[in-house]
Amino acid sequence: MKKVLIAGGCGFIGHKVAIEFMKAGYEVVIVDNWNNYNVYLIRDVEDKYQKRIQNLNGALILQKNICLDRITRQIFEEERPDLVVHLANFPTATLAAQQPFFAVEQIVEGTLSLLEAARCTNVQKFVYISSSMVYGDFKTDSVTEDHEIRPKELYGVFKATAEYMVRSYTRLYNLTHSIVRPIAVYGPTGHDAFVITKFIKATVNSGVIKIKGRDTKLSFTFVDDMAQGIFRAATMPEANNESFNIGSGVSSKLTDIADFLQTLNPNVQIELEEADPLYPKRGALNIEKAKRMLGYAPKYSIKEGLKIFYDSIQH
Ligand SMILES: NC(=O)c1ccc[n+]([C@@H]2O[C@H](COP(=O)([O-])OP(=O)(O)OC[C@H]3O[C@@H](n4cnc5c(N)ncnc54)[C@H](O)[C@@H]3O)[C@@H](O)[C@H]2O)c1
Repeated sequence: MKKVLIAGGCGFIGHKVAIEFMKAGYEVVIVDNWNNYNVYLIRDVEDKYQKRIQNLNGALILQKNICLDRITRQIFEEERPDLVVHLANFPTATLAAQQPFFAVEQIVEGTLSLLEAARCTNVQKFVYISSSMVYGDFKTDSVTEDHEIRPKELYGVFKATAEYMVRSYTRLYNLTHSIVRPIAVYGPTGHDAFVITKFIKATVNSGVIKIKGRDTKLSFTFVDDMAQGIFRAATMPEANNESFNIGSGVSSKLTDIADFLQTLNPNVQIELEEADPLYPKRGALNIEKAKRMLGYAPKYSIKEGLKIFYDSIQH
């Protein structure tokens, strides 16, 4: 049986990735320190982690910090994974901007610690979950993987740096890699800081949906579709030493999403605010490469995903 080590496997996306691997018969080892990024209330964070691990029976969960390189190395020496999937990073650009020194340690040093451990224990493949933020402002409405890497803010800079390190380990040490660039993932147990989580919570509580910018569009991806894409990039040989955009392939206006949520609860209010000037201008990621080479096929429309998320909080 093949063994996968998933760094960040108790996270919002990571736990769904772990489920994909368990369904496919892999032995799953998770390294995750239940990070609260110094911002979330411990009680709320614990609640989300508890919900996620309910579905991870059968996985070995090690509550350790990947930035501690000696401990990470020891885990790799004991567990000897064939494959590593790295999702143990900050989830949002805003959090990274608020704590840049902490963010650079977590994203850059954390990735280096895993790469070194992988190199020293002859891991076959390293999969890095990067971000669409590495592109900065999108030059076209639908961005392909060969778009210029020109991050606008620090989070994108740190994620791009981690990507360069991963590619460098392939050139220097023959460590095979795949890089996945997700965009705006949403769904049950998603972080409270995410725009869709805020909208859903406002809807459930009959509160106010606050929209930054009348014309703001984003390409949202349901978490199960993201997990499918990451699993394919991690396990298919066609993905070796390649980078892939994974998303829904379409973008939605925040005002349309709010209007749809108002049909689920007519008592929710909608308010328009100024757009955030620091946020990169972004349309949809072009996902043709992942469709063509990996057979990736997102299954959830935005309305289906929103309804599942809404129902998960209602019940
Ligand atoms: N959620 C999105 O919309 C989105 C978009 C683009 C890219 N990504 C990338 O996907 C990855 C996962 O994002 P997510 O939304 O699931 O975030 P998340 O915070 O839910 O998941 C990250 C997991 O890694 C763990 N972790 C963080 N630092 C760690 C450390 N030092 N040691 C051990 N474990 C640590 C956390 O405890 C958490 O369980 C991140 O790399 C993020 O940059 C996410």
